[in-house]
Amino acid sequence: MGLPPLASGPHGPEALRPLLDTVLDALRTGAAARGGPLPAGGPGAVTARVAAAVGEVLPDRGEPEALRVLVTALAEGAADPAHPLCAAHLHGPPLAVATAADLAASVLNPSLDSWDQAPAASALEALVTRALARETGAADALVTTGGTESNQLAVLLAREAHGAGVRVVHGAGAHHSVPRAAWLLGLPEPVAVPAPAGTLDPAALDEALTQVPGPHLVVATAGTTDAGLIDPLPEIADRCAAHRARLHVDAAYGAGLLFSDRHRARLAGLEAAHTVALDLHKLGWQPIAAGLLTVRDADDLAALHHRTGYLNADDDTDAGLPDLLGRSPRTSRRPDILKIAVTLKALGRGGIGALVDEVCLLAERFAALVHDHPGFELYAPPTISTVLFRPAHATDDAVAAVRRALLTTGGAVLGRARADGRLWLKATLLNPHTRPDDLAALLTLVEGHVPR
Ligand SMILES: Cc1ncc(COP(=O)(O)O)c(C=O)c1O
Repeated sequence: MGLPPLASGPHGPEALRPLLDTVLDALRTGAAARGGPLPAGGPGAVTARVAAAVGEVLPDRGEPEALRVLVTALAEGAADPAHPLCAAHLHGPPLAVATAADLAASVLNPSLDSWDQAPAASALEALVTRALARETGAADALVTTGGTESNQLAVLLAREAHGAGVRVVHGAGAHHSVPRAAWLLGLPEPVAVPAPAGTLDPAALDEALTQVPGPHLVVATAGTTDAGLIDPLPEIADRCAAHRARLHVDAAYGAGLLFSDRHRARLAGLEAAHTVALDLHKLGWQPIAAGLLTVRDADDLAALHHRTGYLNADDDTDAGLPDLLGRSPRTSRRPDILKIAVTLKALGRGGIGALVDEVCLLAERFAALVHDHPGFELYAPPTISTVLFRPAHATDDAVAAVRRALLTTGGAVLGRARADGRLWLKATLLNPHTRPDDLAALLTLVEGHVPR
């Protein structure tokens, strides 16, 4: 057997074309074998099927069918966010155009830690990050692997600006990666401000900022993980200014609203934040990873400056080679910006905004169905595209059991969230192709799994 072909180079495209056919066929076969949003049978059955398909992980002699077999197995065992009944998490169906662009990123394999590995990709990243930063009123933006890394970086920049005594103050509904970042960076124990209504209460924040010695980093959320709620950003920004606290907004979910003329105003106040996390693999229809951290004062990024001879020697930088190492704490780095850039340009603001409007409308429709159904209780009208609901009069254990039963049959994928001291089912609607009939079918399916 000769050497395996490469993906790039003069023969790359002709080597890839039949392999892509294989992948596309396998995706179709696997999805058909699954037949629904999730494989049936739960973890034991899925693990057994995957183990049987893989056989020997590292055989002595290579197996030509490996691509077909493993892609089929993965597709058969996937939780498919493009299925209308797969609606648990902030786990969206990627657009075909973005995924095609991501293939090019894999083929070309630019690495954004030095210009000599990514000449055009680094230029594209600079253009697109600055354009996206302007959308939040910021000067610059870094590409991250997602909300978790963006939140970590935001906390790191706050530590570099205010010292290792900086105290993170966040609402009780903040994402777990916020207190985790404080732990990771060796900061004092964060303060979680109670948020009985789900959002950060400015008066309670004011009290915390008065009681707890600073300096402070306040973390607000625009689109909470559990309910999609948006903290009152203008009031929070005012309190931060009054207490000279730094402000980070975790808009990993909500930032997508910026593309929508109809919903954009709900993010007013975002421009006051020192940093903002936004994730285009949530409300942006990108394959993972597609995170960004915008930075209001570009000088803050000086804290990430780092020099190493082989990537950004002083004389290379002085001679005009862009210094990329300070654009991330990572070294080798994929050009995730390519799929984002392609999507922005292919769909335009109007096209992306229409997708945002559609999923928000779907959430309203689903909430209306729940509200009008005597067998269900609605937590609240949706703020973005998350709907919390529960079978009326059910115990928390019953709610949890309904969710697990749906997972085991593979009929639907719903999330779970605690609110008001009770457990709720969570539908996060991110698939703009979902139709009203699908929403009705989802509710009927859940109803059929409620114990009598
Ligand atoms: C509000 C919020 N922030 C941050 C994150 C973490 O994002 P990622 O999973 O992309 O790291 C999530 C994930 O759901 C989130 O909901």
